[in-house]
Amino acid sequence: MKKIYAIGLAAAVLMGSNLAVADKVEDAIEYRQGVFKTIKWNFGPMVGMVKGKIDFDAADFSRRADLVAVLAKMPGEGFIEGSDMGDTDAKSEIWENKAEFDKGMDALAENAAALAVAAQSGDMSVIKPAFGQLGKTCKGCHDDFREKE
Ligand code: HEC
Repeated sequence: MKKIYAIGLAAAVLMGSNLAVADKVEDAIEYRQGVFKTIKWNFGPMVGMVKGKIDFDAADFSRRADLVAVLAKMPGEGFIEGSDMGDTDAKSEIWENKAEFDKGMDALAENAAALAVAAQSGDMSVIKPAFGQLGKTCKGCHDDFREKE
């Protein structure tokens, strides 16, 4: 009797911890997607200005570049073990090549920081190449590690 009770209790504890893990995975996925969405929110007007589709506003561009430089340091930690399952476009290749993926995250932070510095010049001819470099970093990682929509 006692043994059965103990097994039942162990199973309940195990189930509870599995639920906690599932919660954590869901939170991590929502977190990183939220950060990327926030990056995109700021990226939109920057793309418009670089392409000349909206008027270049040096102060606004610089403010957004500063925000993106901070945000770029954030999504990496959301790619926790086991979070290739669920409502996510992250490919399982991320966890098979974690070192390479982490390098991509470092490049994201570095290139975003470089853009923030370039943006201080207020000069589009300085901003453009830095922006191109950052854009390539986004695309390179998405090509390898994100499911196509
Ligand atoms: C090192 C890899 C990597 C880099 C660099 C990267 N991304 Fe992503 N991005 C991902 C992955 C993986 C996902 C899928 C996340 C998920 O669904 O859990 C994603 C998702 C997104 C999404 C969709 C978010 C959503 O769910 O709505 C946007 C938007 C996005 N990235 C924008 C960017 C932009 C802009 C840059 C460059 C400034 C960038 N990303 C750089 C890996 C990267």
